[in-house]
Amino acid sequence: MTVGKRNRMNRILNPASGKGLIIAVDHGMALGPTTGLVDIARTIRTLSATGKVDAWLITKGILTTCFEPDGRQGIILRASGAATIAGEDLTNEGLTTSVDTALRLGADALATTAFIGSPNEHETLMNMAYLADECHQYDLPLLGVLGVGKTMENRMLDPQYLALGARVAVEHGADMVKTYYTPQDFNRVIAGCPVPVMIAGGPKCDTDLDTLNMINGALKGGARGIVMGRNIWQSARPAELLDIVWRMIHQGLSIEEAGKALKTRTRR
Ligand code: 5RP
Repeated sequence: MTVGKRNRMNRILNPASGKGLIIAVDHGMALGPTTGLVDIARTIRTLSATGKVDAWLITKGILTTCFEPDGRQGIILRASGAATIAGEDLTNEGLTTSVDTALRLGADALATTAFIGSPNEHETLMNMAYLADECHQYDLPLLGVLGVGKTMENRMLDPQYLALGARVAVEHGADMVKTYYTPQDFNRVIAGCPVPVMIAGGPKCDTDLDTLNMINGALKGGARGIVMGRNIWQSARPAELLDIVWRMIHQGLSIEEAGKALKTRTRR
């Protein structure tokens, strides 16, 4: 890996632990001002202030209007979108920005979604393959996001499907992959994917302890961290949760210790 790409990767995956705590705030591009991101500038400010966020997954619109750069936190610029819940098909994404814009905005990486098995599988994989080539001309890493949309929602917990998606993303040029966590056989997703895999959280879990259990399972299965949104910023105590998650990811805090820390914090 070239020094440029290594440097950028190190702003996403902490070189000391090899893992990353990335917060996704790109939901508004499809969902609008969803719970937890109505005042998105405030959410970003609050979580940034903890000092625990390694990098952000963010759109160009929110990066330029609501983000205060501190020179420390990495930026993964969301490069696919243009499909909303009001439209016919959430999987009908196109590329919404360019490598030039990403470099101008100081991004460390780009991200695009592939909807494997959907009617837009071909188009979204072509986007990924094209963007990977563009990124690699400038040593920018590409995060390949596995999306399910409505059509493939029932495969979200299927390790065989996600293993296919993760591998396909790498074969099309992704340098990192964001997938969902499967309680069964998550190691199968990791086994066939030669680049770092991180998990999204999906819809909000019932409790913060459920979120911690999901993260613990993923880390134990070989995930290199999280690219998570709702389960962090829709928590009643996001900053406190983030601190515990950070210790799990970067310091190997056990799930038992994490559970205890959660109880102590919520008692306050
Ligand atoms: C939205 C996304 C999100 O970045 C991703 O799903 C992570 O967020 P969450 O943890 O809320 O699922 O791809 O389009």
